[in-house]
Order: sequence, then structure tokens, then C-alpha cells
Amino acid sequence: MNKNIDHTHPAKDMNMERGNGGETHQRASDDTKVLTTQQGVPISDNQNSLKAGARGPTLLEDFVLREKIHHFDHERIPERIVHARGSAAHGYFELTESLEEYTTAKILIETGKQTPLFTRFSTVAGSKGSKDTPRDVRGFSVKVYTEEGNWDLVGNDMPIFFIQDAMKFPDLVHAVKPEPDRGFPQAASAHDTFWDFVSLSPETMHNLIWLMSDRGIPRSLRMIEGFGIHSYRLINKDGKSTFMRFHWKPVLGVQSTTWDEAVKISGADPDYHRRDLFESINNG
Ligand code: HEM
Repeated sequence: MNKNIDHTHPAKDMNMERGNGGETHQRASDDTKVLTTQQGVPISDNQNSLKAGARGPTLLEDFVLREKIHHFDHERIPERIVHARGSAAHGYFELTESLEEYTTAKILIETGKQTPLFTRFSTVAGSKGSKDTPRDVRGFSVKVYTEEGNWDLVGNDMPIFFIQDAMKFPDLVHAVKPEPDRGFPQAASAHDTFWDFVSLSPETMHNLIWLMSDRGIPRSLRMIEGFGIHSYRLINKDGKSTFMRFHWKPVLGVQSTTWDEAVKISGADPDYHRRDLFESINNG
């Protein structure tokens, strides 16, 4: 029982604790689960902020209040500028061959163990509600819930990228987004502002050729490859380091639609890839 709380206050009749300012205190006890901060620290009071004395100002050191307000300020997430349209699924990672020679990360050493993960596939240019089948790069991001912490691996379905310098990223994305004077085309990469950008940025050519190939219009999210965005340095137990990249290879092989098919599918079923993923999982 908290010494600072006046248990002789009338609120006692209501079976409720009150503080010196008359404020109510509601505490978890017995079997009730304790509310925690995002770091897991038990929250002592979720209804009253910390004050300097009964009438004092609110204290900045009240991290529970700060976290609650911060979370509140950000609870409506604005649509992302890139990769807004995505479909995701739960799965697991199971290692078949130990990589002990290269790393000490348990997930890459212990074979046969299933580690849960969540994978999100996305298009890049289109808005959240845009179709699944435009000619575009596909994002391939994986969050693995390993024993040693959450491991994010972000990739695309193409192993190279349009630009090397993040300074050019906003220009690239503005160019691939709808034309500024008319607001279309939605989700599509082959249009004037994009051609303008790539024609002035020769380093885009490699990725451009991939994009304009059949790879730009995948048949299914189950039939794309994934290429981790970064090169990583793995360090083994002897301190020896090796540079490496992660690639995902689909069991079903890489398959595309033809342009003619993709155009028809877009009209008939804008959610084609999401539906395919959902139904395939449901069908086992
Ligand atoms: C200069 C290079 C790049 C910059 C500046 C950049 C920037 C960004 C930004 C700002 C976002 C949105 C994040 C959000 O709103 O939460 C994003 C998302 C993403 N990026 Fe990049 N990006 C770059 C290159 C790449 C490359 C090379 C790949 C893959 C090989 C990639 C894959 C992704 C994916 C998959 C997402 C969506 C992640 C998800 O599904 O949650 N990006 N990127």
C-alpha cells in the first residue's frame, strides 16, 4: 500500500485509492496483468502524470507520460511515400546447413529449428489501394523473431538498384510517382517524368533493364526472388569476417505474366497478388 495515498478520503467508500490532490489511482494487483512501457517497465500510474508536488508543474522526467503522448501523436500512420501497397504473411525460417564457419548468430548455426518470421511484399510506386500488377520493383522485407532479438532483412526482387546515393532517392521517387500536373499514371513506372530522370542518370540503366524485362510484372508473390538490400559482414567465433548478401529463391521458380495478361488481370482483379497469397496459404 502506498504511504502517499490518503486512504481516509471519501473515495475509500468507492473502493478506490485517491492521492493528495484527490486524483484516483487504479493499480493492477493480484492476478491482473501489469501494463508496461514499450521497453517492458511496469507502469505505476497510467492516469496521472508526475508532478512537482500536489499543485506543481508536470515533470519532463515522466517517461510514462512522454511515451503515451508520443504513441498517441503517431497512432495514425500517414501513407508511406514508397512501398505503400503491400501484402504480408507469417511464416518460419528453418536452417538446413550450419553457417558456423562464418557467423556466431544462432539462427544461422542451429539447423532444423523453426524461427517465426513475418514477410511483407510490396510494390514501390503505387498508393496503398493501388493494383498489385503494375510494372514495378517488388519489395521483399522480412522480420525474423530470433531468440537473440528481432532481425530485419529488407530487400527487393531485383539485385541491383537505380542509384547509389541516397541524395538522389527523393528525385528518383518523385520521377516514378504520378506526373505532377495530372496526378497519373498511378503505380506505373514507364512514363514521362521517369524517362526524363533515367535518361539524365546513366547509373539507373542496369535496374531499368531489369524493370522493363518480364521481371517487372511477376505472376505471383510466391514466384519472385528476394535480394537483401545490404552487404553484411558476418563474424565467426574466431573473429574472422566474411562479406555476404542474402538471397531468397522461390521454390516455385521465378515466373512472370506477359504484359497483355498483366493488363487484363489489373482490370479483372486489382488484388490479384494479395488474393493469390491469401488463398494459397488458406489452401495449405
Ligand atoms: C538510396 C537508396 C534507398 C533509400 C534512400 C531508400 C529509402 C526508403 C524509404 C524512405 C522507405 C520507406 C520507409 C517507411 O516509410 O517506413 C523505404 C522502404 C523500403 N525500401 Fe528502400 N530505399 C533505398 C533503397 C532500397 C533498396 C536498394 C532496396 C532493396 C534492395 C529497398 C527496399 C525497400 C523495401 C522492401 C521497403 C519497404 C519495407 C517494408 O515492406 O516495410 N530500398 N526505402
